[in-house]
Amino acid sequence: MNLACNIAGIPFRNPIVMASGTFGFGQEYARLYDINQLGGIVSKGLTLNPRRGNTGTRIWETAGGMMNSVGLENPGIDAFLAEEMKFWETIEPVRIANLGGSSIEDYVLGAVKITKDTGERHNTHLRGVDMIELNISCPNVKEGGMAFGIKTEVAREVIREVRQATSLPLAVKLSPNAENIVDMAVMCEEEGADAVSLVNTFSGMTIDIHQRRSVFSNLYAGLSGPAIKPIALRMVHQVARQVTIPVMGMGGITSASDIIEFIMAGAEVVQVGTYNFMNLRAGENLLLGLHNFMEQENIQSLDEIRGIIG
Ligand code: DOR
Repeated sequence: MNLACNIAGIPFRNPIVMASGTFGFGQEYARLYDINQLGGIVSKGLTLNPRRGNTGTRIWETAGGMMNSVGLENPGIDAFLAEEMKFWETIEPVRIANLGGSSIEDYVLGAVKITKDTGERHNTHLRGVDMIELNISCPNVKEGGMAFGIKTEVAREVIREVRQATSLPLAVKLSPNAENIVDMAVMCEEEGADAVSLVNTFSGMTIDIHQRRSVFSNLYAGLSGPAIKPIALRMVHQVARQVTIPVMGMGGITSASDIIEFIMAGAEVVQVGTYNFMNLRAGENLLLGLHNFMEQENIQSLDEIRGIIG
């Protein structure tokens, strides 16, 4: 059975990739199961400078889903390269750095730092970052974040500049809140992106009716989990039909059959996010489920089913 996938010449041993912000840098999960079984790992969103994130409630459980208002808390790119890369050098899954920012300059400087560090590591025969995932879709920061991911022409400028700043494979993480997600994805391909990842979380709201105010300090927060799966799947299907670059599909995956749905809709690989909080061995269990499904259905390779929904 062949589960191999490929994005921009980078081989993934299987389509199971852990989504940004739900897997840290992988160390904690590595204590629970062999994370070398995974196809890939995406880092927590990294910014040029360290960020403390949002105050107040950050996580809220909702029917069929989860809301978050983390606000891109992260140690900053320098600390990531100095500390977390030591661990990342030792692991086998494709290592993807998720890059956030509040200005074009931030994104460009961040991409340059990661690219330079990777070049230096390669010169000394160490592994560096395999791919950058440009996050233009965080709904939880006031400055930057999703502001770049709503209008296609605003996003174009960021992607063009970052594309020039890095020789690393570049994926762009899209917002389901974009004015037109298909136009956005087509633009990413025009500007030289190697892949698109979709979807980030949906902008949503929960009200504390006793306090008579939003649960979140930023008013709105990002909705993820099974509640969004049918919409995410529809968006992946629409985008995959209109671009030739690979799609990393995500939104509410909690089972092998969900993975198959995303691949049938046209995804090259999938990303698993919220399910990491529901099942601490999500990656391992999904992989086992995928093997079993393919065996039962007599599918030899994912290419047999990828994009078969016309
Ligand atoms: O839902 C999200 N939350 N999406 C992001 O891109 C970032 C994250 C956060 O840090 O708030």
